[in-house]
Amino acid sequence: MNILIIGSGGREHAFAWKISQSPKVGQLYIAPGNAGTARYGTNIEVGVTDFPAIRNIVLEKKISMVVVGPEVPLVEGIHDYFLADKLLKSIPVIGPASEGARLEGSKDFAKQFMFRHGIPTARYFSVTKDNLEQGISFLQGLKAPYVLKADGLAAGKGVLIIDDLDEAARSVREMLGGMFGQASETVVIEEFLSGIECSVFVITDGNKYKILPVAKDYKRIGEGDTGLNTGGMGAISPVPFADEIYMKKVEERIIIPTVQGLKSDGIEYKGFIFFGLISVQSEPFVIEYNVRMGDPETEAVILRIKSDLVDLFEGVANGNLAERELVIDTDAAVAVMLVAGGYPGDYQKGAVISDLDKISGSILFHAGTKILGEDVVTNGGRVLAVCSKGKNFKEALELSYLNASKIQYKDKFCRSDLGFDL
Ligand code: AMP
Ligand code: GLY
Repeated sequence: MNILIIGSGGREHAFAWKISQSPKVGQLYIAPGNAGTARYGTNIEVGVTDFPAIRNIVLEKKISMVVVGPEVPLVEGIHDYFLADKLLKSIPVIGPASEGARLEGSKDFAKQFMFRHGIPTARYFSVTKDNLEQGISFLQGLKAPYVLKADGLAAGKGVLIIDDLDEAARSVREMLGGMFGQASETVVIEEFLSGIECSVFVITDGNKYKILPVAKDYKRIGEGDTGLNTGGMGAISPVPFADEIYMKKVEERIIIPTVQGLKSDGIEYKGFIFFGLISVQSEPFVIEYNVRMGDPETEAVILRIKSDLVDLFEGVANGNLAERELVIDTDAAVAVMLVAGGYPGDYQKGAVISDLDKISGSILFHAGTKILGEDVVTNGGRVLAVCSKGKNFKEALELSYLNASKIQYKDKFCRSDLGFDL
């Protein structure tokens, strides 16, 4: 069958690499893709929310399955668009329709969902201009630091963690006043939870689910988890503290109630659920839901999945996921992200990347690259994920760091302390 992957980052390169290994795949297309995905399929220059253009590709290229990488097209209803179209409705889309995608698209919706289904998460209050007074008194009843979240999608920037109460109250007003545009017309005020985070992924056909390898990502730009938040500076899988006992709690208290909750709320959900978890004295709480795989977690996680991903996707589409096999490698895998100098602030694109062919023993997933004439050049803040396996994460990291040092481009940067906290 012909498959179309939507997206252009390291996650989508990792998908392309894995999907291209499946004997079930004929032609693979990636829209829009990057210099790395071009090695495993055909890139097609189209925006991820240009649904009519995607429709044309699907019909023209005789696509039989669409795998959606990023959240924006899901929240904007790509799956619904397919279901509403006579010619597209029988073509499976891996990723939820917009109602299910609200788990990521609206923090308030996600919070209500969790409270309704008894899923452990921080206490909260959702505030708009209409109940500002109550919101401020909820805030005053919390202990510092204060967590403020834009309700809607804000490209990973919509969360503020503030130590001072007055500043937090001011920020609530500024957020409601449009700090994140429409996304912060509602603000979720949350109790701060202190602990260590990890990312748990499941794939579900809306009925049954399978748990994919757990990972930890490193979001801050600076060593020791300091400085600004980024899209992710690297990932490690598995996560030592997410042991069997912890994962049993996660499954019983979080995964099962979520899958059951979607079902009992009448939300048909086919795709990935990403649980951003925090462990508070070994008890798991949900920090956030995402309705897609993580990036850069995918680049590490995918190296540990031995089974045919397309077979699992067929299980999702056909509603018989339980009959499919998921075999996970016991080895560790890591992704070390090489970024552009200045990222996550201003940075330049278009730097020529050299010595990609000097890599050995690692696999490179391109995040922000493109082909320019004869060259591969940088085309984003996150440029390349250098991914490796090893008996444990330290061994895998050593290999990734060695290979990362060989790649050359102007102002290359990576964090050199991944795993410091494990
Ligand atoms: P989110 O976009 O909801 O994942 O939030 C971004 C980051 O803010 C998370 O990865 C956490 O590190 C932090 N965070 C969010 N909510 C909380 C909370 N209730 N307590 C502590 N940290 C939080
Ligand atoms: N790595 C976190 C995310 O994909 O949102």
